[in-house]
Amino acid sequence: MTAKPSSSEKGGPSQNKPHADPKGFVYLATAISALGGLLFGYDVGVISGAILFIKQEFSLSPTMEEIVVSSVLLGSLAGAAIGGVLADRLGRRKLLIVTAIVFGCGAIGAALAPGTITLVAARLVAGMAIGIASFVAPLYISEIAPVAIRGKLVSINQVALTSGIVISYLIDYAFAGSQAWRWMFAMAVVPAAAFGVGLLFIPNSPRWLVARGHTDQARAVLEKIRSPDEVKGELGQIGQSVSQQKGTWSELLSPLLRSAMIVGVGLAIAQQVTGINTVIYYAPTILKFAGMSSAPAAILASVGVGVVNVVLTLAAMQLIDRVGRRPLLLVSLAGMAVSLFVLGLAFSLPQFSSSLAWIAIASLMVYVGSFAVGLGPVFWLVLSEIYPLGIRGRAMSVGTIANWGANLIVALSFLTLTQVLGKPATFWLYGGVTIAAWLFAFFLVPETKGKTLEQIEAHFRTGKHPRAL
Ligand code: BGC
Repeated sequence: MTAKPSSSEKGGPSQNKPHADPKGFVYLATAISALGGLLFGYDVGVISGAILFIKQEFSLSPTMEEIVVSSVLLGSLAGAAIGGVLADRLGRRKLLIVTAIVFGCGAIGAALAPGTITLVAARLVAGMAIGIASFVAPLYISEIAPVAIRGKLVSINQVALTSGIVISYLIDYAFAGSQAWRWMFAMAVVPAAAFGVGLLFIPNSPRWLVARGHTDQARAVLEKIRSPDEVKGELGQIGQSVSQQKGTWSELLSPLLRSAMIVGVGLAIAQQVTGINTVIYYAPTILKFAGMSSAPAAILASVGVGVVNVVLTLAAMQLIDRVGRRPLLLVSLAGMAVSLFVLGLAFSLPQFSSSLAWIAIASLMVYVGSFAVGLGPVFWLVLSEIYPLGIRGRAMSVGTIANWGANLIVALSFLTLTQVLGKPATFWLYGGVTIAAWLFAFFLVPETKGKTLEQIEAHFRTGKHPRAL
């Protein structure tokens, strides 16, 4: 990368004196960036409750309802597409600051929307912020994290994301009595403001600084987030890897990067086509299919599903640097496949119909728990680890586009699939796809635990098989 240093892009606010507690400072910077994950989860989850009242107030047709609901996904796709170049040019931190403002505008816009068009526009705007934050927050955290706890720190973003989903359900529930759907959207301003203000107090990514030629500022940042004896070695490693790269778009297509692209895009698609968002977006509907007739009970059960998602993500966070990414991923996909087959079976056997609701709840819990302990956090983590520094933002954005694109396709096709194929076959189809994803992970996904980002990059440059890492 050849851009000139600019005075506004120094090491960030606190670059001059070593920090008393380097690890504590890394945790603080992680927590602030992870508010991006929280907003991602909140903004995706909030619509499930809000749509019930919007539908009435704006007299939406089913098609318009679908457009209002899915506009956020379209926006995310656009955000993922533009975020890569911006992350490499502007820097991770500055882009996240812009994103916090966009989150705020999206929330206020939706809260004040006089009609459907403005509401869709506001949701597109919020979606753009989600699409950017979804990968730039893990990217930033991965680049500031010490190698031994990188998995844990990046997974904090997924913990925040899953918490954001639950918080949005609870806020929806709190405002449902007064039908105050505008407040449901408006509440996102609070974390957006905390995110934007907090980001002013954390440093730039030292890796991005080196890539832009600001080695002195990078050293100053490392002095704040590492112990004194680690700074020189890490700076040397980063400098060496930067000297080997061109940092151009064409590098993305180079044969040496091909296997990293296949791993990232493959995992991105696998994370969605195995069906997680049919459950996150439609849990109450699935439970109603299973005979749970009361809507409040179905909504409450979906809060339960959300809580399982948070708790098992917390477990993953504790395990990911100890047992590694691959074992969690493989166990996760296996658990998802089994629970999908059980769910399909429960829907297909009439003799189970009396206990169907319970089997459905149990399988959904096992399914979501399995996702949370592996595929959920591992995808975003591995995506942030496998690409070379000079084009990391752009390469991650390609994987993120694949993720949001697959998300949109699954969200739009799920209900139609249950009508065309029937419920059992729909869940079996996801189950079959999950087995394919397991094989993909088994044969292609490398173990990145304990390796520095520079070691991972050097491995991919040799052109050796990803699993030989
Ligand atoms: C996925 C989202 C999903 C969420 C659920 C994330 O890792 O990318 O699509 O809604 O996990 O926890």
